[in-house]
Amino acid sequence: MSFRLQPTPPARPNRCQLFGPGSRTALFEKMAASAADVINLDLEDSVAPDDKPQARANIIEAINDIDWQNKHLSVRINGLDTPYWYRDVVDILEQAGDRVDQIMIPKVGCASDIYAVDALVTAVEAAKGRTKHIALEVIIESAAGIAHVEEIAAASPRLQAMSLGAADFAASMGMQTTGIGGTQENYYMLQGDTKHWSDPWHWAQAAIVAACRTHGVLPVDGPFGDFSDDEGFRAQARRSATLGMVGKWAIHPKQIALANEVFTPSEVQVTEAREILAAMQQAKDNGEGATVYKGRLVDIASIKQAEVIVKQFEMING
Ligand code: COA
Ligand code: MG
Repeated sequence: MSFRLQPTPPARPNRCQLFGPGSRTALFEKMAASAADVINLDLEDSVAPDDKPQARANIIEAINDIDWQNKHLSVRINGLDTPYWYRDVVDILEQAGDRVDQIMIPKVGCASDIYAVDALVTAVEAAKGRTKHIALEVIIESAAGIAHVEEIAAASPRLQAMSLGAADFAASMGMQTTGIGGTQENYYMLQGDTKHWSDPWHWAQAAIVAACRTHGVLPVDGPFGDFSDDEGFRAQARRSATLGMVGKWAIHPKQIALANEVFTPSEVQVTEAREILAAMQQAKDNGEGATVYKGRLVDIASIKQAEVIVKQFEMING
């Protein structure tokens, strides 16, 4: 038990984070016109080393010139183990206007990684007189990241979101796979001759959700590499939503509608949640703490479960 109230995460939709390389300027207008809630302009692994300076310049120009509508606009900087990251932060915060909302830090391994970026961001903001404070988001995609996930979630009041990056995570963990998220052929149990596939990402996702919910951060599922496999994406996204994640990345535009569909509570879910709230109000009026809804128990905890769904729906449609 704890007497402390669980902090609420930022009240903004984060159903889909659409990525695009900072070196592919032709994509920027299309990203701005998309139905993604969050845009991630990338300076990291989708940009070749020789293209980093040009990609920085492209992104700064795009932040200043493109109409990003109501999108949450984030730039993924390079990792703290590279020579690029400080220049990413400094150039963006010195040269881009206030339209940029967030910086994404990849491959975080401990709370000090966020502290270092926070310190640099804070100094540049003060030097430039920036009054809108930049938010941070991180990717858990290493053994160290998942081992230190809770201290990372607690590392800065700027931190708004945390994603699981399946590809780098698998590599760092020494997992025997080249798949980016989703079902892994060799991860199964046998019952007689029948295979039952399990979910190798489950424990890391659950750890991220717990750390995020403890510290008021949005938990997000990362990339699903096979953008030809809509049903595979849906299945992965539905598992993530069931575990408490609020959204998923899109690495191709065709994944945006899929993510929005899964992470927007459906009419059926919302109707049922509202009926549970009504049933519990009736129970309360009768002086009862528990009642029966469609042949099953609902009690005071059911109110909180139903409110998660109704509040998410209202925030998204809000
Ligand atoms: N955002 C917006 N639009 C995109 C897009 C993106 N990330 N990726 C592709 N498109 C557009 C294309 O320009 C094309 O538009 P058109 O119909 O007007 O010509 C359309 O969507 C179909 O694109 P397609 O030809 O199927 O893809 P591609 O071969 O151009 O690019 C990828 C495929 C995977 C290389 C590209 O989607 C991409 O770079 N994704 C992001 C990668 C990334 O940022 N990774 C880092 C995070 S893991
Ligand atoms: Mg990565």
